Amino acid sequence: MKPTTVSHLRQWKQQKHKFATITAYDASFAQLFEQQGIKVMLVGDSLGMTLQGHDSTLPVTVADIAYHTRAVRRGAPACLLLADLPFMSYATPEQTCHSAAELMRAGANMIKLEGGNWLIDTVKMLTERAVPVCGHLGLTPQSVNLFGGYKVQGREEATANQLLADAKSLEQAGMQLLVLECVPSELARKVTEALSIPVIGIGAGNATDGQILVMHDALGITSGHIPKFAKNFLAQSGDIRSAVQRYIQEVEQGVYPAEEHSFN
Ligand code: KIV
Repeated sequence: MKPTTVSHLRQWKQQKHKFATITAYDASFAQLFEQQGIKVMLVGDSLGMTLQGHDSTLPVTVADIAYHTRAVRRGAPACLLLADLPFMSYATPEQTCHSAAELMRAGANMIKLEGGNWLIDTVKMLTERAVPVCGHLGLTPQSVNLFGGYKVQGREEATANQLLADAKSLEQAGMQLLVLECVPSELARKVTEALSIPVIGIGAGNATDGQILVMHDALGITSGHIPKFAKNFLAQSGDIRSAVQRYIQEVEQGVYPAEEHSFN
């Protein structure tokens, strides 16, 4: 299988070909996802909640992400693999370089970090040092204590304008991909149209170039609070492979996310 690169994602954006991505944390699921046609995966710091049982992503370390990145890379050798820089692992330039290097050595193709224009110099620095960067705006779970909970972001005009401005500045700084989480669909549409890089949404409506889901949400494993944007694809499918195929098809056809999964 030919490796997926960031150039493919840019082509898909230009061709208006929507793409489905998913989190993966181990070799077996990564292999299954790749075999069903998922071309982009994320080793997310959501593993702090889904795998480790914490109530936030804050306890996750670079070593944790590196461990799971190595496993996912072995299972899915051709995917474009994103790995999260966890909480406080990119607070200083030196620390950022060490953390990013560890994840790239573990098999990531791109690192993802959460935040707005305070990251402009960080994005420039990483890009100049050959580390491709995916940004993450909107509900950034590492900021849960600042936000006072997991809340939709960008509902007011001022915060929406700030988010759009941040997205443009980060693209200017070298960001190659953007994840938008839990923002009103209309704001996500504006950001997607304003950027020339691909935008991947989660709880951001269906105007973005791609979608991402935490695999536990896509397979109905999540217990307790189920996010509004989540859809259990296994419930309507006979097995996990069919569920993943259904997720890919529904994203490609613009069926998922529907209104009921979106914020307005
Ligand atoms: O950590 C994660 O899984 C993520 C996705 C929800 C985008 O950041």
